Amino acid sequence: MSPQPRTAVGAPLSRVDGRLKVTGKALYAAEHDVDGVVHAVIVDSAIGRGRITGIDTRAALAHPGVLRVISHLNAPKLPYRDNTASNNPPGRRLRVFQDDRVLFYGQPVALVVATTLQAAQHGASLVEVRYDAERPSTDLRQAQADEPTRYARGDAEAALSSAAVRMELTYRTARNHHNPMEPHATTARWSGHRLTVWDKTQWIVGTQTELAAVFGIATQAVRVISPFVGGAFGSGLRCWPHVVIAAMAARVLARPVKLVLSRRQMYFGTGFRPSYDYRLRLGSDRQGRLSAMAHEMEAETSSYEKYTETIMPAGQMLYSMPNVAQAYRTVPLHVNTPLYMRGPGFATASFVIESAMDELAHELGLDPIELRRRNEPAQDESSGLPFSTRRLRECYTVGAREFGWDRRRSEPRSRREGDWLIGMGMATGVYETQRNTAQARIRLNADGTALVETAASDMGPGTYTSQTQVAADALGLAMRSVTTRIGDSLYPPTPPHGGSMTMASVGSAVLDGCNQVRQQAIKLAVEDRQSPLYGVAAQDVVVRGGRMQAQSDPDRGETYQRLLARNNRPYLESLGSFTRPSGPERHSFYAYNATFAEVAVDAALGLVRVRRMLGVYDAGRIISPKLAVSQAIGGIVGGIGTALLEHTVTDHRDGRIVNPNLADYLVPVNADVPDIEAIYLDGEDREADPLGVKGLGEVVHIGVAPAIANAVFNATGRRIRELPITAEALL
Ligand code: MOS
Repeated sequence: MSPQPRTAVGAPLSRVDGRLKVTGKALYAAEHDVDGVVHAVIVDSAIGRGRITGIDTRAALAHPGVLRVISHLNAPKLPYRDNTASNNPPGRRLRVFQDDRVLFYGQPVALVVATTLQAAQHGASLVEVRYDAERPSTDLRQAQADEPTRYARGDAEAALSSAAVRMELTYRTARNHHNPMEPHATTARWSGHRLTVWDKTQWIVGTQTELAAVFGIATQAVRVISPFVGGAFGSGLRCWPHVVIAAMAARVLARPVKLVLSRRQMYFGTGFRPSYDYRLRLGSDRQGRLSAMAHEMEAETSSYEKYTETIMPAGQMLYSMPNVAQAYRTVPLHVNTPLYMRGPGFATASFVIESAMDELAHELGLDPIELRRRNEPAQDESSGLPFSTRRLRECYTVGAREFGWDRRRSEPRSRREGDWLIGMGMATGVYETQRNTAQARIRLNADGTALVETAASDMGPGTYTSQTQVAADALGLAMRSVTTRIGDSLYPPTPPHGGSMTMASVGSAVLDGCNQVRQQAIKLAVEDRQSPLYGVAAQDVVVRGGRMQAQSDPDRGETYQRLLARNNRPYLESLGSFTRPSGPERHSFYAYNATFAEVAVDAALGLVRVRRMLGVYDAGRIISPKLAVSQAIGGIVGGIGTALLEHTVTDHRDGRIVNPNLADYLVPVNADVPDIEAIYLDGEDREADPLGVKGLGEVVHIGVAPAIANAVFNATGRRIRELPITAEALL
């Protein structure tokens, strides 16, 4: 098979769906018009733990337009079969309206369905729920932890006790909520025993299998439609209770039902990044060579599911050291279950490890980059495997040069401009390269256009555009000749649109399908006596602009259109696939970055302003450079939030979240966002997947918070080990 010229992949193209998005023609979950739809509003629990002792629905039912109030008193019992093809953590998932138990504040306890949204909202306010309340346990620091998951190599305790330099540091991170712009929403419709949902989801197949399991119907009886997702950051990676509620209501009422979570309800209904208490002890010699790290991590989970995330790998493989000990404990609380949020696990681990590295560099009087260089491993010391690619040294070199790192003063609090203390900091980021089995259907039409269909999602990174780029090159077509359709369970299945695995997984399936279709066309041509390509070796044929031609004699060739017309073929089609490699890996796959920050801190007020940020990324081949830079900007903006603003606050007396809105839960706005620069190292990872990509959506976020924290230390001499870094903490 001759290689195709690359013209679309690697080109800085704009989004193919950009016009649809800015003209409002891209339909999000709540915007699909479904005939006869009625509206549902959730009544959520006003206690954090206990039992429902009564529900008075008379006033609600008397309100004009209200059709039904559903609660555990009258809800159908649902099978809730186990679903292994899901992101449901181990445990017993929340079963909506199946009993009188309240497990967390804000849990759905009833549903009002009405002919209009307004009637449903008012009806919900009229439902009176009586409770028998118990005191919830919602404080990570006050509750009993589960048994730990452990990792060890060498003898960390012995190494720590004999280390020339020893540090013992405790860090805390706040609970963060995803807060995508688009709220979660579901419209559900039954036709007999078949269920269709228009849903905000990052995993079409996951939502499909979960609804099938909950309702005890065949997977194929559920159709999930989700063509556009207005941000998610992980909140759409599992099928939440409100999706089940919408489907249940549609069945009870025998009408389509639309359910949109309020911003407030998103804080109780769609997961969060758990808060951590993280104690790190490290030992090194006087030259900064690490001998040991001991990590003790405690993180929130719910009382009914044990959510865990990849908090452990970074501590095992990022730096070279013979001795590592880790203990990771979840702490069950009366909260809803956490879920992956951008760079899950790694982002938190990186805040801790990268802050500690900065502390060690300061202690030793070493440049923070030099310290990291001295601890660069030759292989993955957790597995003994070679790195597929690891270009962290280049990230440091390029980053230091481009950011002007030589202008940093190593002595903290030594640069001042009027009221402002100026500082620079950096951190390393790492995220695992994941890829999973995926499929895509490719059809090359007789008119020379092509159609790509796959059940992938696009929460914003640009799936439509990047898959179109891969297909255009592999088919030898112009971008405008290729249409990509995603977000429908009728299309071939894909893994979760998360963990930065979409390009490697779905992209490789699209590549495979397009290669097959191109080969079909070439075979047809070289075996067709009437084709100018008759008798040419198939591997000598490439396709450019829809025209197949012999590389050895470019005058010999013809278009797809002519070939298919002459052969009476309406289209050529193939099912492309990518199969996750089975058996043990032979390489260690990670994406990396070096992230740099410059901050100004008001010496009197403690206000932190991020002035500049730069990320330099080793993420393998970059399919879509313009969108990759957008991803980096978004990841850095999110990191500014984690570092300085974002904090979900719980009132431990009753378990209520006191700031469940965008006025009190702070996220960066334009005034908080400085000039951001992103540099992707040119290259590819030949071991990772057929496209050579390593994933970039997560890694761009990781390392941002510690880079800012380290810059704050450089500016002020104050080491803040608790996120977010607030003005109060700096006073
Ligand atoms: Mo991301 S947490 O994988 O959506």
